[in-house]
Amino acid sequence: MFDSGFGGLTVARAVIDLLPAEDLVYIGDTGRYPYGSKPLDEVRGYAHELAWSLVKDHDAKAVIVACNTATAAGLEQLRAELPVPVLDVVEPGARSLVRATRTGRVGVIGTVGTIASGAYLDAVGRTGAPVQLASAACPGFVEFVERGQTSGDEVMVLAERLLAPVVATDVDALLLGCTHYPFLARTISEVMGPSVTLVSSADETAFAARDLLGELGLLESGGRPGRHRFMSSGDIDWFRTLGSQLLGPELDHTERWEPPGD
Ligand code: DGL
Repeated sequence: MFDSGFGGLTVARAVIDLLPAEDLVYIGDTGRYPYGSKPLDEVRGYAHELAWSLVKDHDAKAVIVACNTATAAGLEQLRAELPVPVLDVVEPGARSLVRATRTGRVGVIGTVGTIASGAYLDAVGRTGAPVQLASAACPGFVEFVERGQTSGDEVMVLAERLLAPVVATDVDALLLGCTHYPFLARTISEVMGPSVTLVSSADETAFAARDLLGELGLLESGGRPGRHRFMSSGDIDWFRTLGSQLLGPELDHTERWEPPGD
């Protein structure tokens, strides 16, 4: 599984909890984050490198793109070129979102890249659910999480400003369409109000992984607990320090991941 940084740990948590016998290799591309403000073709190139590294260097039997921006940029290409199944977070997120609403007015927030790509409009449309989707980009949220600042006045001020257009549309369910955002859920929930259900794609993605691996006969049946490896292209000490706070005790060690050619 890979992400631009710490965000995909929300998905890693769900996968470790649901599939404790599976080995997991997580790469956080913190040396090149944020993805959300970069051109999609640049992000597509990063996704290609990360996914192939998981397959070639770590013999991954499946790859989870634990990043909405990388999904929006490169999912189709990854599915076409990789010899293993590729799971994403956008489709599972869209499914959870349309299940969560009662009024049919739903919202999604994500990075500039994800929102501008229209990936969620397409994914929600594919569910066939008769919903109205409001969307907003939230530049700056990812940077707060990467710094370990997940609450406080500064986060609140930014959240109030960025979420105002979504609040105005009176949604009753809001999808956190960036895997970093669940770490800001308390602030986001305070701004949106108690009547809005926050939806994250993490659990639904873990269920999708279990179902797909099961269908393909690739599920680890148990016997021993899964091994978990965490890698980062940036500061590995910071990745271990903040990562263990965000994910939990499984993240007790971080290895260096070098992009090819560096
Ligand atoms: N977690 C990534 C996502 O889901 C964040 C992208 C970024 O680095 O800006 O989109």
